[in-house]
Amino acid sequence: MTVHKQQNGGKMENLESLKNELVAQVQAAADIRQLEDVRVAVLGKKGRVTEMMKTLGTLSPEERKEAGRELNILKTEVETALEERKEALSAAELNAKLAQEKIDVTLPVRPENQGRIHPVSQIYEEVVAIFGQMGFEVAEGPDIEDDFHNFTALNLPPNHPARQMHDTFYLPKEANGSTDIDDSYIVRTHTSPVQIRTMEKQQPPIRVIAPGRTYRSDYDATHTPMFHQIEGLVIDTNITMAHLKGCLYNFIKAFFELDEIPVRYRPSFFPFTEPSAEMDIGCKKTKNELKIGAGTDWLEILGCGMVHPNVLRAGGIDPDKYQGFAFGLGLDRLAMLKYGIPDLRTFFESDVRWLKHYGFTPLDMASMTGGLSGNGGVR
Ligand code: DAH
Repeated sequence: MTVHKQQNGGKMENLESLKNELVAQVQAAADIRQLEDVRVAVLGKKGRVTEMMKTLGTLSPEERKEAGRELNILKTEVETALEERKEALSAAELNAKLAQEKIDVTLPVRPENQGRIHPVSQIYEEVVAIFGQMGFEVAEGPDIEDDFHNFTALNLPPNHPARQMHDTFYLPKEANGSTDIDDSYIVRTHTSPVQIRTMEKQQPPIRVIAPGRTYRSDYDATHTPMFHQIEGLVIDTNITMAHLKGCLYNFIKAFFELDEIPVRYRPSFFPFTEPSAEMDIGCKKTKNELKIGAGTDWLEILGCGMVHPNVLRAGGIDPDKYQGFAFGLGLDRLAMLKYGIPDLRTFFESDVRWLKHYGFTPLDMASMTGGLSGNGGVR
């Protein structure tokens, strides 16, 4: 179609009906894609209106002025229609999307919690909750220790026979280049070095527990190369063995969630305590079951004693003025006993089926008021 062949009046009429036709096409576009097709067909490089624009060059200057003005009006009108339709379609599309993606908040939550707390973490929280209520603070020390803190300061000088029992992992001597045995590095064989590190940092009164990882070269159903212990240390001017007994008795009753539990202290030996003892609790052992809190059998639970004066001295505390008690217990072993887990190696296999069976739900936080192990040990 060309403009110049028509009379002025006819042309106007023609452009008016063309405008109506194009606007109708724009309005008929059902979605953004169709609208874009209409735009290209009308205003694109080879679009109807664009082609008409191209013929303007063949007109006389006056005709061109008039026709150009009218074509521009047409073009603007079509553009406006396109713009309006685009806005309407976008809004409709957005509304449709919103309606489709609407969340029904009345639907039930996901049927099953997947995450579980590992029994070691659970026991850790339980023990910290119990001692926390008795006024103990949590102390920490490094996993990579020097010989001095792990042995010598704990009254195990070089060549002491008790060192042999620890199956120590030694780190390469070159690690610090020293030939002095006290400076050589190991991974700590127990949490007892935290006793020394605490004494180095603070004077009595001291009342701390130190939970953490410990390492020994050993591997069977009840030993793994990495395991967990909790150390306890209380030092003040007037601490006696009676405090030790009362404190540990309260702990063990709270831990096993029992009102009464038979307890006995057996004389023992640890270089860092004098006297030393091991605490046993009453239980009933049958072939397939262990029942804690009743019966005529005994089960060893922890090692303890009055802190040896040499240990106080090594930690910079005057043994003529202060005395105290210490204890150490195996966290993993406690978990095995409390939750009936037969093999320690399974703790570290990262098997999610195992974790699902023995693990704890995250919202059951251990606390002395809200219940230690969730529903009182029933899961
Ligand atoms: N450190 C000892 C061990 O790993 C446990 C222990 C016994 C710690 C008696 C103590 C204690 O603090 O008094 O076998």
